[in-house]
Amino acid sequence: MLFNVCNCVPATSSLAAVTLCAGGAGFVSAVIATLAAGAKTAPAKTLRGAVPVVDRLAVRMVTDNIVIQFVPTEKRDGLTIERRSGNTVPDKPPRTILNGEWGLAMYAESQAGNETRHLLIDFGYTPEVLLNNMAILKIDPALFDAMVLSHGHYDHFGGMVGFLNANKGKLKPKLPFYVGGEDCFCLRRNPGGNFGALDRKAILDADLTLMMASEPAIVADHAFTTGRIGETSFEQPLRTTTEIVGIFDGFGCFPEKMPAAKNTGTYIPDDFDHEIGTNYLIKDKGLVVLTSCSHRGVINTVRQAMAASGIEKVHAVIGGFHVVPPLGDDYINRTIGEFKEIDPDYLIVGHCTGDRFYDLARAALGEKVIHSAVGTRFVFGVN
Ligand SMILES: [Fe+2]
Repeated sequence: MLFNVCNCVPATSSLAAVTLCAGGAGFVSAVIATLAAGAKTAPAKTLRGAVPVVDRLAVRMVTDNIVIQFVPTEKRDGLTIERRSGNTVPDKPPRTILNGEWGLAMYAESQAGNETRHLLIDFGYTPEVLLNNMAILKIDPALFDAMVLSHGHYDHFGGMVGFLNANKGKLKPKLPFYVGGEDCFCLRRNPGGNFGALDRKAILDADLTLMMASEPAIVADHAFTTGRIGETSFEQPLRTTTEIVGIFDGFGCFPEKMPAAKNTGTYIPDDFDHEIGTNYLIKDKGLVVLTSCSHRGVINTVRQAMAASGIEKVHAVIGGFHVVPPLGDDYINRTIGEFKEIDPDYLIVGHCTGDRFYDLARAALGEKVIHSAVGTRFVFGVN
């Protein structure tokens, strides 16, 4: 994973930037990455017509910010919430436990008739937490039918390389790995400094097939991605990161695959043009939208899923909503107002949602607002 971007200063054009970085191993690996990318990268199959319908969907929070204890499992209409507590290995000393961290990873098991599909969405911040939690939760990566990365932020891909190394030879050959577009690979900075970049070479070396899904796409027969999320609501979510176009020491986004306007040779405000949500349609219930981090706006994400599928009924929204300070009560209440219009049955808030949003949404919408937590499994459909 990238921490030292390049021993050079990016120049004013991407070509110059690459040239300035040339002469070392970085340039060589960039060229290799280019060749490899051409060989194993494919456009995702664009969604045409009706979206698939599943009978049942179980979403397990593998990495999340919060650990909750002492909350019993409960059943609601069309939803079972299985909480994890107690010793994780009952017949041994309690040495291992589910860990929370700033990050998100979700494991989705869907069922349509006799057919089951398994998806991993995002990888959390660290491989240590991801692998620890996966082991305790008995998640078998050999079952995965696809993996989706929601966007190019470290708290969502930081665990990826460690996960791939730990599961060498165990994943299905050519396993599809979905991202929303080339922008996902750009180097990013946050207010604290270097925020890393997605390791394209690690993806390709792991025999994954990199699927570019800027349009809505079917994933593993049962799910669909939103494609590019339009900015259709009032939302102006916080976007504290910047990005730069170009390849630096083998990492980054290819200038020729990026909009020319972004190719300035400097860090520019991050527009999250590549962020995608992952969604399912549950029989007789409606859409379940997995938002991940909602940098394009949580309402925009949900409305994009509705538009892509042509389905108006939203059963649940689950993930990070990103309604955080300094966004204040006015903004939060407008978001809640939009949710009242969409009228989902459940809002399952996790990761980057924000405590104040939870408090106000819970006050306004009551029991339908549910805290996510590490290890919790949300089972939709038959119960
Ligand atoms: Fe995030």
